[in-house]
Amino acid sequence: MALKLFRKNLCLGIDIGTTSIKLVELRKIEEKMELTNYGILEKYGHLERINDAIQTNSFKLLEESTSLLLKELIEKTQTQNYEAFMALPSFSGFISLMEFPEMSDKEIAKAVKFQAGQYVPMPLQETTLDWQIIEREAGKTIVLLMAVPTDTIQRHVRSAELAKINLKGLELESVAVARLFGKKEKGVIAIVDIGGRSTCISIMDKGSLRSSHSIDTAGGDFTQVISSGLGINPMRAEELKKASGLNFQVRGEVKISNLLIPLMDMIKREIEKAINNYYLRTKRQVEKIILTGGSSNLQGLDAYYSQELSLPVVKSDPFSLGLVTYNPKLAPIIRDIGPNLTSACAVVFK
Ligand SMILES: Nc1ncnc2c1ncn2[C@@H]1O[C@H](COP(=O)(O)OP(=O)(O)OP(=O)(O)O)[C@@H](O)[C@H]1O
Ligand SMILES: [Mg+2]
Repeated sequence: MALKLFRKNLCLGIDIGTTSIKLVELRKIEEKMELTNYGILEKYGHLERINDAIQTNSFKLLEESTSLLLKELIEKTQTQNYEAFMALPSFSGFISLMEFPEMSDKEIAKAVKFQAGQYVPMPLQETTLDWQIIEREAGKTIVLLMAVPTDTIQRHVRSAELAKINLKGLELESVAVARLFGKKEKGVIAIVDIGGRSTCISIMDKGSLRSSHSIDTAGGDFTQVISSGLGINPMRAEELKKASGLNFQVRGEVKISNLLIPLMDMIKREIEKAINNYYLRTKRQVEKIILTGGSSNLQGLDAYYSQELSLPVVKSDPFSLGLVTYNPKLAPIIRDIGPNLTSACAVVFK
């Protein structure tokens, strides 16, 4: 019986990224979570063949092959069929804020349905909507509207079914990640999640998500420019990227950081745009930038953005924030891969 109760507190968080699948097994202990198991399945095919990703912005997730990868990950981690929560890629969905006068929850539900069409840039009949009240203040009710193509949800559900995963919930990654960081950060924060294929830039205020958009520049591009700039194969470029990052390193005549900086600056301009737009709308200034996602591990990136954007920039994840604890033996690994696991942890963290 005791064992059964113990097991009951375990659940899985799954993040199917474009270049890797991440799984965490977490145990809930009162308000905290403990990491009891994890796995990352990296697919390097996309480095050799540009379209060989698990999913891309234009290519939809393929249920059969994704389910095989999920099965492989579950087998390798030897986890059990606990209740599972999955992240939906930020770039697949859309969020917007809606503002209403003071109204009851029931009235808001009606108003959201009635007005959603004006906010969502996708055909409503092909879209699944969700919403939550994020602020009630001075006679105003602010609602976060979330929209995801129903087809995307179905593909994730089908992949989970084929992999025999006991799926209990799906959530947009940007929403889950902001909720997680919002547990600790109550100011105006920009969250920059840099993955393999896409970067998602979100603004969070008073602990809630306020805006979010994705761009197509991310870690895969960093590898590509090193590969073509140095005339080396992409696998070697990937190793070099991880080993040197933006730190001073010269190969022949070429400084690796010089190859990377134009891409860093593309992302920087998008961060600035998000910060400025939020300021114009609310007159509230972003105070800090949080970098997360696998590519936030790029050495020197936090220092570069801090200097360029004149704001404090920190690399962060659920472990460094103390929201998820772990066996101290895992400390050196978690330091390196913590940001890769942010979304997988966030979907579990309610
Ligand atoms: N130490 C490191 N230095 C630089 N880049 C790194 C490091 N470790 C991982 N990366 C990069 O992180 C990226 C993968 O990050 P992540 O797992 O967040 O992506 P993903 O979720 O698969 O992609 P996406 O979110 O775009 O769908 C890869 O491009 C990888 O090269
Ligand atoms: Mg990702």
